[in-house]
Amino acid sequence: MASTGGRHFLQIPGPTNVPDRVLRAISAPTIDHRGPDFAALVSELLPALGPVFGTAGPVVIYPSSGTGAWEAALVNTLSPGDRVLACDTGQFATLWAQLAGRLGLTVELIPGDWRHGADPAEIGARLAADTGREIKAVCLVHNETSTGVTSRVPAVRAAMDAAGHPALLLVDTISSLASIDYRHDEWGVDVTVAGSQKGLMLPPGLGFNAVSDKALAAKESAAKESAGLPCGYWDWTPILAANATGFFPYTPATNLLYGLREALAMLAEEGLPAVFARHQRHAAATRAAVRAWGLEVLCADEREHSGSLTAVLLPAGHDADAVRRIILERFDMSLGTGLGRLAGKVFRIGHLGHFNDLTLAGTLAGVQLGLQLGGVPIKPGGVESALELLREATG
Ligand SMILES: Cc1ncc(COP(=O)(O)O)c(C=O)c1O
Repeated sequence: MASTGGRHFLQIPGPTNVPDRVLRAISAPTIDHRGPDFAALVSELLPALGPVFGTAGPVVIYPSSGTGAWEAALVNTLSPGDRVLACDTGQFATLWAQLAGRLGLTVELIPGDWRHGADPAEIGARLAADTGREIKAVCLVHNETSTGVTSRVPAVRAAMDAAGHPALLLVDTISSLASIDYRHDEWGVDVTVAGSQKGLMLPPGLGFNAVSDKALAAKESAAKESAGLPCGYWDWTPILAANATGFFPYTPATNLLYGLREALAMLAEEGLPAVFARHQRHAAATRAAVRAWGLEVLCADEREHSGSLTAVLLPAGHDADAVRRIILERFDMSLGTGLGRLAGKVFRIGHLGHFNDLTLAGTLAGVQLGLQLGGVPIKPGGVESALELLREATG
């Protein structure tokens, strides 16, 4: 690739740019993970992690990608043949459902058009119809990274409660945690699945499960009946026991944990409400640019626009990947590709994590130039529309 000078713009919707502060923290010498300094690190980390999930309960940390944390949520709580309800809201919801199927669960998938979030009424109807209480869990992706659509978790919880159904609620927050308002305890979520590489501003490599009392009880009762899914490496029990004394039952990702401590400090300094408002503001400015260009945002429901990313639909006959290629080659910026059935039709602008007004201005300038160079018919003025919004709106 041609050298452009300056810094690469990593504007995919995760992994995101890692702040220099976090990179420096990660570069500290690795320590003995069975020694007192490590125990001190863990005892500082775990209490700081809960507020980001909105929980006073335990958060399990894995040296894994988000997919590992998906698997952990399932194998800790469910038994072979259990029925789970999932919504086809996008590529990641589909992948999680497929993983559940491979683990021996029976998946009931509510179809979707990938332009809307999960439909609380449909979930409620499916649960109400399940008079035999065969559905043991609802799997929900909070923010669909493939579409830029955020499902309304409290509305889904309310629908589950209205149906009086005891299923667990498992929520993937891989591209929403620490970017979009999220409250594990208050919203009655049983397992929250997360990863390090997006709103937490870390490199890939850590997976998380925040766990409710109900999820722990489900695990315990499945274990008592020797009925649970095979669960070795992912088993919460030995991890939580070791965490209580500041350790892990395996070699943890020490240097990523240093980075996590620093990232949590940065989030606490800014304050979560300000972090969420910043993301919403950048998302709104991005949509202003897209609409001023005369293009369409993929998300079709005003209540469900993602704060983390925006998926932009290209007019028929224009290849989104060709535009992405031009932008990478000419301006050294990476944008997200269209995934699954959206391949070639959309590109995705990541505006999450370590990101500010001028990062957005640069990002949108690169997109506008790339669209023009790629021969996509757009109106000029998209960047100016975003800047106008940034000028007016305060965090
Ligand atoms: C919403 C969502 N869920 C799950 C995953 C899978 O996570 P990983 O690629 O870290 O395994 C991703 C990855 O981007 C994601 O965005």
